[in-house]
Amino acid sequence: MAIVVITLLFGACKYDFILPEEIPDPNDPNTDEVKFSEQVLPIFTNNNNCTACHDTGGQIPDLTAGNAYNAINNTRYLNSVNPEQSRIYTVAHPDTDGHKQKKYTATQAAVILTWIKQGAKNN
Ligand code: HEC
Repeated sequence: MAIVVITLLFGACKYDFILPEEIPDPNDPNTDEVKFSEQVLPIFTNNNNCTACHDTGGQIPDLTAGNAYNAINNTRYLNSVNPEQSRIYTVAHPDTDGHKQKKYTATQAAVILTWIKQGAKNN
């Protein structure tokens, strides 16, 4: 019984250390670096969010884990001069009605834009 109680207490304490998900601010040059592999790619692949259609041999760009970076690392999808005009950001942006199949959440859009503004690294 004591072990169960201690385990529960320990388990309960752990939750106190989980921080709420941070939303990066694309306009803050000091915002934490967004990692493509950890933050951008999961937007495309988790629950087949985008890869349901944007898979290899399917709709372009191919947003699957092994191909997404190379598929979007070009001037069709990224605009390094005007990051807000990058197609990978605008097409699925929640405020546009171009791509009705799927939209980013506001948080996901902020993650994508911050990543582009930070140089769209394969990090
Ligand atoms: C249900 C299928 C489907 C899903 C899911 C989907 N898309 Fe698409 N997407 C399409 C189709 C079809 C097109 C081409 C026609 C159009 O633009 O509506 C397209 C076009 C695009 C384009 C423009 C491609 C180009 O070269 O012009 C981008 C960028 C894009 N999608 C990004 C995304 C992202 C990011 C997600 C996930 C948030 C996503 N899509 C989810 C079907 C889908």
